[in-house]
Amino acid sequence: ALSFVHRFEPGTDAGARPLLLLHGTGGDESDLIQLGRMIAPGTALLSPRGKVLEGGAPRFFRRLREGVFDEEDVRFRAAELADFVGEARAAYGIAAPIAVGFSNGANIAAATLLTHPEVLAGAVLLRAMVPLADPPAADLRGKGVLLLSGAVDPIVPEENAARLVAQLTAAGARLDHRTLPVGHGLSQADLNLARQWLAASQ
Ligand code: MLT
Repeated sequence: ALSFVHRFEPGTDAGARPLLLLHGTGGDESDLIQLGRMIAPGTALLSPRGKVLEGGAPRFFRRLREGVFDEEDVRFRAAELADFVGEARAAYGIAAPIAVGFSNGANIAAATLLTHPEVLAGAVLLRAMVPLADPPAADLRGKGVLLLSGAVDPIVPEENAARLVAQLTAAGARLDHRTLPVGHGLSQADLNLARQWLAASQ
């Protein structure tokens, strides 16, 4: 068995990059399957369930409180997720995926990009914030990242999203950052922009 409880949905389009779907706090491996199908029809979907439990709610790493992370655990869990992607690639015969993460899932995706850049082909980060105050020097040249923020997101201050953009850009990623007139929840605009960006990046 692979090291995470997960769902894998094979793709019908062999040329399309698979997606690594990473749910938010309290979600599970089924949460983002519909979203994945909508934004990337025909693409293989790999969707693990976060192993950390917070009052019964699955997450991808520990936090001390909302927006304050246990960075040692962030690093440990990003390494664990990177290992899982390697296992799943071998088991299912898929290429390096593009991560699509929401909230806590976007944060572990950003941490994985910064600490294990070889594992991901790129990322769609929905409401991400800085996962590591002082990340290692990663090489993200050639990788595209779409970051979608909410202008009135009560969890992610504008300054924090800007810092994440600066970290990823400094590592060489091709950043496309849009701030939508919404809060922390997802909107139709998120789905449309993610679909367009993924279609253009294939
Ligand atoms: C996190 O813990 O990763 C962020 O606070 C987002 C969340 O999951 O609420």
